[in-house]
Amino acid sequence: MEAAERSLKEIEDFISGHLKGKGILACSGGLDSTLLAVVASRVAGERLLTVFVDTGLMRLNEKERVKAIFDKHKLNYRIVDASEEFFSALRGVTDPETKRKIIGAKFIEVFERESADFGAEYLLQGTIAPDWIESGGSVRDTIKSHHNVGGLPENMNLKLVEPLRDLYKDDIREISSFLDLPTDVQPYPGPGLAVRIIGEITRKKADLLRSVTAIVEEEVRKALLPEQRPWQYFAVLLPVSTTGVHGDKRTYGGTVAVRVFNSIDGMSGTFTRLDWELLDRISTRITNENKEINRVTYDITNKPPGTIEWE
Ligand code: XMP
Repeated sequence: MEAAERSLKEIEDFISGHLKGKGILACSGGLDSTLLAVVASRVAGERLLTVFVDTGLMRLNEKERVKAIFDKHKLNYRIVDASEEFFSALRGVTDPETKRKIIGAKFIEVFERESADFGAEYLLQGTIAPDWIESGGSVRDTIKSHHNVGGLPENMNLKLVEPLRDLYKDDIREISSFLDLPTDVQPYPGPGLAVRIIGEITRKKADLLRSVTAIVEEEVRKALLPEQRPWQYFAVLLPVSTTGVHGDKRTYGGTVAVRVFNSIDGMSGTFTRLDWELLDRISTRITNENKEINRVTYDITNKPPGTIEWE
């Protein structure tokens, strides 16, 4: 038996041992929660409901991509559009930790609604080792509260099952590939674009960042083969306006930072020494296709001291 098959069996055994009734699972479309949804559904079948919450903070076409995987693996699932609720809960909030806590609580509220309807007793989560290590789960102080750990309300009335808790990203990739799931998926934070919109979050800003993010992803994918692609490549919308020029007119527009990052497990890493021509194409497309943006910067911070996400 190869290593991935053994790990898969361990996860399945863990789920059989802990999931004693109906369970609900939040799948964000990321590698971790997608793997968990597929494995748990192999074990629990219709006893498991997989929920994809459209927070309004997902990337372009994320919902459609995830739906195709759910259909292919015949999951019992629901796609819930809760975007209006998230945007209204986040109105006026600028503090990063507060945003994460609000999103965490909102997620649980939506789940609890869905799970009451489904009659679930268990909440399955795709938390992996770096998530809880960095959330102060052991001896370390809280670095950032990852929403799937630090943001859980105390009074949650679902029993938590975390079958991937001891795994790292490379384990997840191996098992996913063994199950023929897409592995060319960048890690994507639970709070989504919220941790990449600095300052207040609005639907308009989320739409703008979605469009900019799609450009970064498209250009990196066009230029680099899957095995050459960095750990993550995305954009951050900054609350900074600067002067620019369009034709012979001065303009006052927004700023984005492009973050392209190399890492093995997300715990540490370095900024990617991206080819200048590629950076040029990214920058030119961003400003051509989004007239509100007139400045593109490149983040050259390693981790530590910077985290990968900006919030
Ligand atoms: P940071 O920004 O802490 O991120 O260097 C390390 C890795 O974790 C991802 N990340 C998250 N993943 N929920 C997640 O499941 C979260 O709240 C979250 N925040 C950050 C980040 O994208 C990077 O890959």
